[in-house]
Amino acid sequence: MGASAKTMIPTTTRAITRILRASLLKFIALLFLFSLFSLLLLKVDDLISKIALETKTVAGHNLAQTPWHHFPVKHFNESNTIYGKAFHFLKCTHFQCLFGANNRQYNTSPNKLKNSHNFTTNITSTTTCPSFFRWIHRDLEPWAESRIAMGNLMEAQRSAAFRVVIFQGRLYVDFYFSCTQTRAMFTIWGLLQLLKRYPGMVPDVDMMFDCMDRPVFQKSKYRTKKRPETNIQPWEEEFKSIKRGSEAVNWDKKLNHAYWRGNPFVGSRARTDLLHCNDTNKWGAEIYIQNWIEEAKVGYKKSSLADQCKHRYKIYAEGWAWSVSLKYILSCNSLALLISPQFQDFFTRGLIPTQNYWPVKHSDLCRSIKFAVEWGNSNPIQAARIGREGQRLMERLNMDMVYDYMYHLISEYSKLQNFKPMPPKTAYEVCEESVLCYADSISKQFLEKSVCLLHHLCRVIYGEPIMILLRVGFREIERL
Ligand SMILES: *[C@@H]1O[C@H](CO)[C@@H](O)[C@H](O)[C@H]1NC(C)=O
Ligand SMILES: *[C@@H]1O[C@H](CO)[C@@H](O)[C@H](O)[C@H]1NC(C)=O
Ligand SMILES: *[C@@H]1O[C@H](CO)[C@@H](O)[C@H](O)[C@H]1NC(C)=O
Ligand SMILES: *[C@@H]1O[C@H](CO)[C@@H](O)[C@H](O)[C@H]1NC(C)=O
Repeated sequence: MGASAKTMIPTTTRAITRILRASLLKFIALLFLFSLFSLLLLKVDDLISKIALETKTVAGHNLAQTPWHHFPVKHFNESNTIYGKAFHFLKCTHFQCLFGANNRQYNTSPNKLKNSHNFTTNITSTTTCPSFFRWIHRDLEPWAESRIAMGNLMEAQRSAAFRVVIFQGRLYVDFYFSCTQTRAMFTIWGLLQLLKRYPGMVPDVDMMFDCMDRPVFQKSKYRTKKRPETNIQPWEEEFKSIKRGSEAVNWDKKLNHAYWRGNPFVGSRARTDLLHCNDTNKWGAEIYIQNWIEEAKVGYKKSSLADQCKHRYKIYAEGWAWSVSLKYILSCNSLALLISPQFQDFFTRGLIPTQNYWPVKHSDLCRSIKFAVEWGNSNPIQAARIGREGQRLMERLNMDMVYDYMYHLISEYSKLQNFKPMPPKTAYEVCEESVLCYADSISKQFLEKSVCLLHHLCRVIYGEPIMILLRVGFREIERL
């Protein structure tokens, strides 16, 4: 009994020690797991904050305004919590292109290639490029010998809002600054449509985009005339409606003087000088001030464009930079009087004086307008013909032509790069789904309307952003 008691005590102690040791081990293990878990939570939290606060988006999230141009701060209508934002960005930026069905279409699977070949032969054999496409070579001439180096691009980055790299048929974007209104979104959308129209054909390129109308560092008043911010229908619809409007009044019935309506206070000498020519008897011109801000309040009803082809002569004066109004003026079947323009739109290269427009000298403005009006009134057949030719040029300006031009321009540009384009580490892939994911309901309508199905023409166009792309994408071109 005594002996057993003697052995009992050490056994108990040993057992207790063992239990204690085991508990301690368990405790340490638990502590370890707990720390690991906390650490993980912290890391996840970190990651979520990082995603929410650093993801730069096509809509302009987490992007500052361009220092050289101010516009109203954008408000986003999404969750305000860090988690809500992170979820939104994860979904739209990080996952959408992985699972998007349309995304596959940019790939060059054998099946797609076969179709694209079919598509290609149609492009090249059934449509001939307008002769002014030759300007592409002229425009790119400054780089023909020196070629475009990465250094040139890095220099351009200082005034760029975003950079687009097309790599193996996919589109990657690196965002630097927010763009006014919805320009970044629509420009990128236009490029995505290009990839879809020309599957497997768009070469690898690296391009910097500035989204202002005019490539100078100067404060300007913010303007309110871009789609979808104004009530302007997509171009093909709009053209038809203008044409119908223009057919309602034949040349003889049109008012026999020149007409201009717009905002003269946009820092443009041509426009302020025009105000002095407002006298139908003395100068043969009628000038009206259009207040876009007032118009915006009443819903742009008064400025119905199709209603404005009642004059034989329509004056075009550049605004802050080029103005969308040129297209509408040329579409009217009236004689377009162009005050010596300084900025080039891609289709302005198709303009030929006395063939599809009449040039007006800025230095002798009122007299020059008077001369044109008097010439037209005494040569009505010729004047009407020039007006018709202007309208015909605009009629050809459909989406096929715009994308064709974009394709050729980008292809020629890519040949001049003396490096192999690669998406930078900070860039994300952008696809249709990810753009739509960020679009508000109005933009979404416009975007979806302009989707090009493979082998189909765009049902409706959204011309403006592509013009902007063509104009601002290659800033130097404008200075030529
Ligand atoms: C956000 O959008 C919803 C519907 O999409 C709308 O009802 C709501 O008023 C919007 N909120 C803000 C702050 O714009
Ligand atoms: C070209 O397209 C047509 C119709 O889209 C199709 O029927 C035809 O098989 C295609 N041809 C080739 C060579 O892929
Ligand atoms: C190519 O053009 C022909 C003739 O214009 C047309 O019948 C065919 O459908 C076109 N194919 C495609 C794929 O657009
Ligand atoms: C130009 O003249 C017309 C008619 O006299 C007038 O109604 C209009 O307000 C004038 N425009 C400007 C800018 O002064």
